[in-house]
Amino acid sequence: MPAVVLTGIGLLATQTAAYGDLPDAALLIENGRIAWIGTARSAPDGDEQVDLGGRCVLPGFVDSHAHLVFAGDRSAEFTARMTGTPYTAGGILATVAATRAAGDEALTARVAALTAELRASGSTTYEIKSGYGLTVHDEARSLQIAGHFTQETTFLGAHVVAPEYVTDPAGYVDLVCGDMLAACAPHARWIDVFCEEGAFDGDAARAVLRAGARAGLGGRVHANQLGPGPGVQVACELGAASADHCTHLSTADIDALAASETVATLLPGAEFSTRADYPDARRLLDAGVSVALATDCNPGSSYTTSLPFCIALAVREMAMTPVEAIRAATVGGAAALRRTDIGGIATGMRADLLALDAPTPVHLAYRPGVGLISAVWKDGLRVR
Ligand code: NIG
Ligand code: FE
Repeated sequence: MPAVVLTGIGLLATQTAAYGDLPDAALLIENGRIAWIGTARSAPDGDEQVDLGGRCVLPGFVDSHAHLVFAGDRSAEFTARMTGTPYTAGGILATVAATRAAGDEALTARVAALTAELRASGSTTYEIKSGYGLTVHDEARSLQIAGHFTQETTFLGAHVVAPEYVTDPAGYVDLVCGDMLAACAPHARWIDVFCEEGAFDGDAARAVLRAGARAGLGGRVHANQLGPGPGVQVACELGAASADHCTHLSTADIDALAASETVATLLPGAEFSTRADYPDARRLLDAGVSVALATDCNPGSSYTTSLPFCIALAVREMAMTPVEAIRAATVGGAAALRRTDIGGIATGMRADLLALDAPTPVHLAYRPGVGLISAVWKDGLRVR
């Protein structure tokens, strides 16, 4: 792999304490990693030079929450919501039916299309959940397909109770913790549970996370999205890497997050698309909670692959500063996946980078809806 020097970086927004924001910078990529960072004047020679013409460079976004393995379309549900119909967890079952009916090739093509969109929007790492199969076979194949696109695969058999088990929800939890987990664990890094009215209660969520931990999977929780509930407390109690949504939080929930290693992952695309109130990011940040931003890309509640869109929403609607929102989409996402090799620019870290057609990252929120991503590198290779 040739050593590549990026020069002409107007601003290198590293998101790391060691380097901060460096004006007039250059950077050397060797073997997929960042090998050197400094001023343009002192740049070493590489095998190749790329002049970025004054653009700003930042770490690739880390999208720590996405549901990409699905078939079908729920735009009619979206249209109805925009005129007042409330969002409920029940819509998931429409996608479950379409996903079960789809062949592997169609599902794979959909994931390929969505991951191409993610990269085009600057995301260089993305988590992918199962959760629209809800049978042993369909959950396992969803994860196998996801595994072709990312190492951050999440088993979400506990998305909602499968239609075959509506009269026996406890039997479904046993299936998720038993045969389904056994079939899925070899293809997953994480286990997730939708802890919410209409999905799974606190005890079921604990059972799912504990079974996952016994199978070697890290925990994640869909928590407090549609109303107050036990999700955040369960996530903190069991040491989940992330509690996602965090839209309806009590003071005790915020205290628990602040005292834990659990990242609060905010998903403003979901509030946008369900016409709901946004989470109180300011309260979380002021309490010292680690915050991530992710897309929650899914066909029901947030059909966007764009972290720049989520950053703009977080700044405009959630009182996050542009710096905080960009940090949440990079360092925050990496923390939510318990990764230290991505989400920042420092020597030794992966060369996952993006260049913006803009002088500073603030333009991501200042120029909403404008395609500012001009180049993307993943492990040092130009992918866009
Ligand atoms: O993150 N909360 C649960 N799961 C998704 C919604 C999935 C759907 O409606 O299809 C979410 O919002
Ligand atoms: Fe989700």
